[in-house]
Amino acid sequence: MKKENINKIFESVASKYDLMNDLMSFGLHRNWKKKFVDLIELKSKKKNIILDLGCGTGDIFNEIMKKPSFHNNYLGCLVDPNIEMMNYGLKKLKSKNLVWLASYGEKLPFKNNTFDLVTMSFSLRNVENLNITLNEISRVLKKNGQFLCLEFGKVDNLAINTIYKIYSDNFIPMIGKKIAGNKEAYEYLIESIKKFPSQKEICKILNLKKFYKINYYNLSFGVAVIFSCRKKQNS
Ligand SMILES: C[S@@+](CC[C@H](N)C(=O)[O-])C[C@H]1O[C@@H](n2cnc3c(N)ncnc32)[C@H](O)[C@@H]1O
Repeated sequence: MKKENINKIFESVASKYDLMNDLMSFGLHRNWKKKFVDLIELKSKKKNIILDLGCGTGDIFNEIMKKPSFHNNYLGCLVDPNIEMMNYGLKKLKSKNLVWLASYGEKLPFKNNTFDLVTMSFSLRNVENLNITLNEISRVLKKNGQFLCLEFGKVDNLAINTIYKIYSDNFIPMIGKKIAGNKEAYEYLIESIKKFPSQKEICKILNLKKFYKINYYNLSFGVAVIFSCRKKQNS
């Protein structure tokens, strides 16, 4: 789907985005995001420069800021093409260590080798061009910098997958219609999950993009998955 159309979808659900996440996942997305932030490995004690791409309403920095180990040793760049989503985030997160910026992942307004860490949570699936976005992430990461990505995955348990499919095809668009007043936006969500490559395919793509130390961790039977990798020293 064209990025302008994806942008319109997020604009239309921004006011109900946080509530819908809680309802659709029965609050599970909060645990997934906690585990995600636990997997951050920052070596240096000095100020770490962190990019949260597709930040939406700022959930990932909300978690990062709760961790005592991050106390004041970071500078956060929260980037998203959707200003509506970020406006809700701005009301939630108050810190002088954060900078908010509107941009698509396909063309990031940063110099090469800027960030110690790039995070993406449920946003890689939404980019118009996965290849270009991953090239951009690799470009702006420092050598050996960490890329952490939380996404929906493929469930490999047949029974769980059957229940999950019935739930997502029927109930999610229904809740979307009732709560956010937008059934189509939540049909888009389900389609984007189906189209997104499997855990193994994403690892192969990351390998081609010159990342290394590539690992993934399934959450809730693979409904969600965390990918962790680092930019190669010689790339
Ligand atoms: C499902 S939300 C995730 C928000 C937040 N990271 C979270 O975990 O709650 C997806 C976000 O990706 C953003 N997005 C859409 N297209 C994008 C692109 N091309 N580059 C970067 N972000 C994009 C949307 O505007 C939206 O805020």
